Amino acid sequence: MSAAVVDLVRRVLLLALLVPAFSYALPQAQNLPDNVSNHGVISIPLNFRTDFVFLGSWFLALKESDAKLVQHVYSRKEDIDAYQQAGVWPDGAMLIKEQLSVNTSDSEKLAENFAGHSKGLFVMVKDREQRFQDNPLWGDGWGWSFFSASDPVQTETKDYQAECLGCHESVRDSDLVFIKGYPLLKKSY
Ligand code: HEC
Repeated sequence: MSAAVVDLVRRVLLLALLVPAFSYALPQAQNLPDNVSNHGVISIPLNFRTDFVFLGSWFLALKESDAKLVQHVYSRKEDIDAYQQAGVWPDGAMLIKEQLSVNTSDSEKLAENFAGHSKGLFVMVKDREQRFQDNPLWGDGWGWSFFSASDPVQTETKDYQAECLGCHESVRDSDLVFIKGYPLLKKSY
């Protein structure tokens, strides 16, 4: 075989290897964040802890046990800016709630409670165009997913109506978001 033919064969083989590799990467949905595929599969963007804006924390004491949890909620700066201006979430807006265990320690004057390890991640992605109508993780204007802390890629949620909407229904007036816990979104604080 001449050098030119060998080179051609090499190029064809390389292309054959590369094409499937590209087609396996899920293309992204238009106007939605990079962590949403064009089939509506949501994953958690792990830069949220450093790159997103902190919206507020919720401190939970479970009534049936001594367990405590703390939950930190984040959104992106552009989403918060848009909400502050228009009073509605823009298409693609993202809310992430991280649930953490609570550690305690007693000092002389104080019982301290502070964040321990991450237990789970909840995400909502705003959808103003009713995309993914056959996908049971999308509806009521949002995409919904929960992730255990150990797997921020593969959601555990199968059906948002059964697993999320029950509680969020109580805040339908504020587009299913518990805005009372987020001072930045209030008119004054
Ligand atoms: C048991 C009731 C309940 C269920 C079920 C529930 N949530 Fe929530 N969610 C809340 C409450 C209450 C808040 C406000 C913060 C807090 O107290 O945890 C909240 C807050 C959030 C937030 C932060 C933004 C906001 O609305 O304040 C996200 C994101 C979220 N939930 C996503 C989900 C997803 C996704 C599911 C389903 C997989 C889900 N939630 C299921 C009660 C619930």
